[in-house]
Amino acid sequence: MKMKAAVTWNIADPFRIEEVDLAEPKDDEILVKIAACGVCHTDTAARRQVIPAPLPAVLGHEGSGTVEAVGRSVREFSVGDRVVMSFGFCGSCRNCLSGHQHACENFNAINFGGVMPDGTTRISKDGKPIHSFFGQSGFAQYAVVSAASAVRLPWKDLDLKVVAPLGCGIQTGAGAVLNRLRPEFGSGIVVFGCGAVGMSAIMAARISGCERIIAVDIKDSNLDLAVELGATHAINSMNTPDVAAAVKEITGGGAEYSIDTTGIPSSVKNALACLRFLGTCAVLGATGDITLNIQQELMGEAKSLIGIVEGDAIPKLYSEAVQSQTHRVLPRRALPLRQNDRILSLRGDKHRVRRTPQRQRDQGCAHHGMIHGTEKTGTAA
Ligand SMILES: NC(=O)c1ccc[n+]([C@@H]2O[C@H](COP(=O)([O-])OP(=O)(O)OC[C@H]3O[C@@H](n4cnc5c(N)ncnc54)[C@H](O)[C@@H]3O)[C@@H](O)[C@H]2O)c1
Ligand SMILES: [Zn+2]
Ligand SMILES: [Zn+2]
Repeated sequence: MKMKAAVTWNIADPFRIEEVDLAEPKDDEILVKIAACGVCHTDTAARRQVIPAPLPAVLGHEGSGTVEAVGRSVREFSVGDRVVMSFGFCGSCRNCLSGHQHACENFNAINFGGVMPDGTTRISKDGKPIHSFFGQSGFAQYAVVSAASAVRLPWKDLDLKVVAPLGCGIQTGAGAVLNRLRPEFGSGIVVFGCGAVGMSAIMAARISGCERIIAVDIKDSNLDLAVELGATHAINSMNTPDVAAAVKEITGGGAEYSIDTTGIPSSVKNALACLRFLGTCAVLGATGDITLNIQQELMGEAKSLIGIVEGDAIPKLYSEAVQSQTHRVLPRRALPLRQNDRILSLRGDKHRVRRTPQRQRDQGCAHHGMIHGTEKTGTAA
């Protein structure tokens, strides 16, 4: 079938809305009409090739929509089901079999390799293949995805445009706290970077009963929203020379947990320095090289530094639980597909210059760039 998609042809190119061909779903796949797709920072990282992913590609990996067709062996979904799409996994490796699909041994090949698990693409233009992203390619009007990656949404009243980021950003931030760190009631946590992932971590920390939830960002407007969503303290690292000292003062010696979502090496070091003895720092942001003095910064205070992928989540089990807790504060604003470059600049892709779309405080909205699957103008509710 023909559809429109936002194609990334070369490194850092603006998206081009083009007519492309989409193949039928194979046996274990479904065809989804996209209602909206969140814009995760990982999309911008792939577009700039900070995360290498083959181009040309249709990016996007936080899509929601309605099932329009199912492959021959799919029993779980029917036409008309409302779904969120999440990451891909093989289902047969040791980690998948033991319930750790986020750590699938084939995760990178399936999600960043540019092809579906069978080695082919579903999207093409003029007979030439266009690579997939996360086995999904949600920046389009339709997506063919593995049924294993889709999650049915039981709540008919939930707006599909609102729930899309559950597929990655929200489960990543919230899952890091709820599934992996599991902070003790009354403990302290510091979250560096208050974007979609960080905000979700903050909301989860609040649900977990953390007593001190310290948000760190470089933009006051993001920090204001973090406080609305549950942070008890906010630190603007642009005008706080020693963030770790500030955290130690607030917490009386350091936090039990910290999370970095900025992807900036110095921020990861700060996140580690904020901890008290025995503390755990979780890195969620895509971060490059970092130099640590292991004795002084890690081992000497019995700290742990861990990486977490997709919030340790099993999306089919996890989204329902999170959704029931977070739907009141999910984003409410979506922009049309053709404004996707504007969304990326709002999301900080262009030198992190501007914040996300103006939020609607009276509705208690979290911010998250969103793209409609249609090309019509106007915005979502
Ligand atoms: N581990 C995973 O499975 C996973 C999943 C999704 C996203 N990610 C990664 O998580 C990161 C965050 O994603 P996002 O979509 O929330 O991004 P985002 O751009 O929405 O948020 C990043 C935030 O960091 C803030 N920031 C930038 N520099 C800072 C600094 N020096 N100090 C403090 N704050 C600073 C920005 O103002 C922004 O609010 C990205 O690196 C993304 O690739 C990882
Ligand atoms: Zn993502
Ligand atoms: Zn696997």
